[in-house]
Amino acid sequence: MPAVSFQAVSKTYQTPKGPFQALRQVNLDIEEGEFFGLLGPNGAGKTTLISILAGLARPTAGRVLVQGADVQAEFADARRRLGVVPQELVFDPFFNVRESLRIQSGYFGVKHNDAWIDELLHELGLTDKASANMRQLSGGMKRRVLVAQALVHKPPIIVLDEPTAGVDVELRQTLWQFIAKLNKQGHTVLLTTHYLEEAEALCGRIAMLKTGQVVALDRTSNLLRSASGSVLQFKTDQELPPPLRALARVTGRIAQLPAHDAREIEQHLAALRTAGVEVHDMEIRRPDLEDVFLQVMSGTGSASQSAEADASAAAPGRPQQGTATVGDGQGTSVQSMGAQK
Ligand SMILES: Nc1ncnc2c1ncn2[C@@H]1O[C@H](COP(=O)(O)OP(=O)(O)OP(=O)(O)O)[C@@H](O)[C@H]1O
Ligand SMILES: [Mg+2]
Repeated sequence: MPAVSFQAVSKTYQTPKGPFQALRQVNLDIEEGEFFGLLGPNGAGKTTLISILAGLARPTAGRVLVQGADVQAEFADARRRLGVVPQELVFDPFFNVRESLRIQSGYFGVKHNDAWIDELLHELGLTDKASANMRQLSGGMKRRVLVAQALVHKPPIIVLDEPTAGVDVELRQTLWQFIAKLNKQGHTVLLTTHYLEEAEALCGRIAMLKTGQVVALDRTSNLLRSASGSVLQFKTDQELPPPLRALARVTGRIAQLPAHDAREIEQHLAALRTAGVEVHDMEIRRPDLEDVFLQVMSGTGSASQSAEADASAAAPGRPQQGTATVGDGQGTSVQSMGAQK
C-alpha cells in the first residue's frame, strides 16, 4: 500500500474572475519510505495538492489516501499519519515554544511527550528558545517551530512545504540531517522546495508540476540522465551578445549556456569571441536538476518521456492520465506562470 496516493485529483477554485483550475487529474503514488520531491514554479499547484492531502482543502474531483485512509472520509485517521509543515508561517502568539509543542501533542492525544519535545528542540537548535514567546522569534526560528510542531506526534509521513524558505545555511544543514535520519528510520518524506540542489541531493524520486499537471515523474538519477547535452559555464564581467543572452542562465557574473553537442559549444565560444566577451573559469558540465527543471518547464526536455514509463512502473496498475508529456502545447513559460499568483 502506498504511503500517499493521489488519485485523479482535480481542484477548481471559485474566484471573482470565474473558476480557476489549479490541479488537473493528478495521479501520484508515494511509496512507504520514499524521500519524494514535488517541484514546480510559483503557482504550479504544490501547496494546493498538500492542502488537499492535509484535509485543509477539498478536491473538486478525485481522492487522496494516506496509508489507505481517505483524507475526506477518514479525516482524523489520515491526519494522524501526517506531519505537515505549512508554507505559511502561522502560529499562536500567546504561547511560548514549549507550550505550543505541548498543545500540539495534546491535539494528537499524545501524553508525556517532553522527552521527544526536548529532542526536537535540540535537533532543531531551539533549546535556548524553549521558553521564548512565539512573537519574539525571528522568521527562521518560527519556521523551525513549525517543523517541530509537525513532528511532535512522530508521524510516519512527513510533509514539508518549502521548509527552508528564509532559513539560514546552518539550520538548513541540520534540518536536512535530521529529516534524512527520520527517513532512514522509515519515515516517508514529501518535500516541496525551490532550492533544486536540495531536491537533487535528497530526493530519490521527483514529480514536476506545471499549471496543475504532472509533467515529469521519475527517479532523480533518471531525470538527470535524461537531460540532453551539457552546459558551458563561465564567469564574465561583460554582457553576452543578444542571441546567447536569450539562451543563458545568468546569476551575477556566472553565465551558463546549454549545448546539445561539442559543435554547439564551439559555436557559443565563437560567438563570445566575435563579440569580444572575455570568459574566465570556464567549464563544461553535465546538466544539474535546475537545467532539467528548466528544460521540462520550457517543454524542450526529454525528461518526462522516460518519466511516464517509470511512473507506471512505480505505481503498477494505476492509470497515469494526469501525467502529460513535456511540451503539451500549453505554451506557458515559467515566468508567466509566476504572474498568476
Ligand atoms: N484559495 C484560493 N483561491 C483561488 N485561487 C487560489 C487559491 N489558492 C491558490 N490559488 C491559485 O492556485 C494556483 C496554485 O497555487 P499554489 O499555492 O498551490 O501554488 P504553489 O505551487 O504552491 O506555488 P508557490 O511555489 O508559489 O508556493 C495559483 O494560481 C494560485 O493563485
Ligand atoms: Mg506553495
